[in-house]
Amino acid sequence: MALYAKAADILEKAEQKQGAVKTLVYDSKFANVKQLFALVCETQKYSSVLAELIEATKLLKQTKVKMSQAKVLVYDLLIGQGLKCGGPWKVMMMKHRARLEAALARMKIKRKVTRNKDLLPSGVQAAEDGVHLPRYVRVNTLKTTVDDAVDYFKRDGFAYLGQANRPDDLELKAKSFVRDLHLPDLLVFAPKTEFHEHFLYKAGHIILQDKASCLPAFLLDPASGGHVVDACAAPGNKTGHLAAIMKNKGKLFAFDLDAKRLSTMSTLLLRAGVTCHQLANRDFLKVDTADPEYKDVEYVLLDPSCSGSGMVCLGKDSSSPDQEKEQRRLANLAAFQLRCLNHALRFPRLQRLVYSTCSVHAEENEKVVAACLQQNPGFRLVHLLPQWKERGLEPFTQCLRASPTKTLTHGFFVALLERHSGAVSTAPPSQEETVISMPSPEVTSVTPSEEAEEKPAVVPPEAQRNSDSEEEEMMEEEEAEMKMEVKTNQVEGQVKTGDGAPGTKKKRKKKKKKKKKKTTTSTPAKVE
Ligand SMILES: C[S@@+](CC[C@H](N)C(=O)[O-])C[C@H]1O[C@@H](n2cnc3c(N)ncnc32)[C@H](O)[C@@H]1O
Repeated sequence: MALYAKAADILEKAEQKQGAVKTLVYDSKFANVKQLFALVCETQKYSSVLAELIEATKLLKQTKVKMSQAKVLVYDLLIGQGLKCGGPWKVMMMKHRARLEAALARMKIKRKVTRNKDLLPSGVQAAEDGVHLPRYVRVNTLKTTVDDAVDYFKRDGFAYLGQANRPDDLELKAKSFVRDLHLPDLLVFAPKTEFHEHFLYKAGHIILQDKASCLPAFLLDPASGGHVVDACAAPGNKTGHLAAIMKNKGKLFAFDLDAKRLSTMSTLLLRAGVTCHQLANRDFLKVDTADPEYKDVEYVLLDPSCSGSGMVCLGKDSSSPDQEKEQRRLANLAAFQLRCLNHALRFPRLQRLVYSTCSVHAEENEKVVAACLQQNPGFRLVHLLPQWKERGLEPFTQCLRASPTKTLTHGFFVALLERHSGAVSTAPPSQEETVISMPSPEVTSVTPSEEAEEKPAVVPPEAQRNSDSEEEEMMEEEEAEMKMEVKTNQVEGQVKTGDGAPGTKKKRKKKKKKKKKKTTTSTPAKVE
């Protein structure tokens, strides 16, 4: 019963957007987190189907349980393990079993399907069946080289198939890998290849990061020794990538509003061997771009909070959102994103800025860029990666889009703005507060609206999604564990990747057990 009660509690909190499922499960302190996580995710996936069954059988009225409890119980009874545990709840549910099974059978006949999974909403089904994204592994060149990492994986039993030459080469069988088509520091493995326990991951030699999420730092390509701003930086995958490209030389100013995420980020950057960064727990919109400290900033990476609509993610809320609410949410996000962009373009020596989102909505992508260019005529778009197939929506084909079907990545958008020679930033404060009008499909104009008065410096949490990859969500959960491990990892991290395996798997497991016994915590470095 404890499992179902916990799962129902987490499901309810997740549906009220009180946190990511993984984080809520981790925080619950439940003994078997894997079992709890699987149950919550599966129930969430079938949420709309379960709600229909519960409604059809009037289960809430007859049992007096809450909707979230009913969903978890009905899921496990009809689709999952068959209520293996459950105490009094099991007894209660068994009384309704026949009626629930009949309702499920009727639903399948009505929808002309035979399998339970065919009842899932189309978006969830696509994630289930269709798209198994490759496992992308970014080699952290601050700690090792791509060649050394390749050698290590080969010795670890993986078959190296060389440099990928065409998109099909990225569709790999288990235990094989290639070098990516576009990104020199990226290795590509078969979907779901598990690396969270791998030595190279634990030691910060590899970062598990979706290919699309590697594009912003790669395209910004800051000079080693340069001054760079990462405006909305946590949990810092792109910051770490920037530092690697800068070879840890120069200054990397990273801001984020969320202290908890910054603390995770600090731990992760430490593990990745990043030293050129300076973290600040600040609202980027309040950063004084004229401060002499930023006088040499030439590069900005802006990856602000967005709707996260590009994320291929199981366990996403599958219920169809209220369209009006969704439009309001997108309008708020777009207004925030445009304000961030306009603000970022104010750094007096800025030369290049990358704007990215993990959203598929034009409102957050091309339309934001269009409005920004209109307000900042001193900047223009750079045509990115000509060989990249999926382009920004017309007329913004200089930008890149990414998607599971076309680029085998999560949905993503990247634009690179550069200053015209000699131009200075022009966006006046009055324009900064304008937002993009939403209704027109081809909006490139800027319309002051009521929202403009509200000046949303901070997007409400329920409107934003801050993780652009499975790994970033994992980071939040791993925070506590990593804080304990980071000291040991630093020592292990000194082992050169190419020097051969640092011991057998058995030994590594032993080491891991030992590490877990330690309780050292690390203080976030340089967080202002
Ligand atoms: C999409 S995430 C950034 C992911 C990050 N770039 C990475 O690659 O790991 C957006 C981040 O923006 C932060 N944020 C939101 N509003 C902000 C603001 N006004 N100033 C600074 N950071 C902000 C959120 O806390 C969140 O961590």
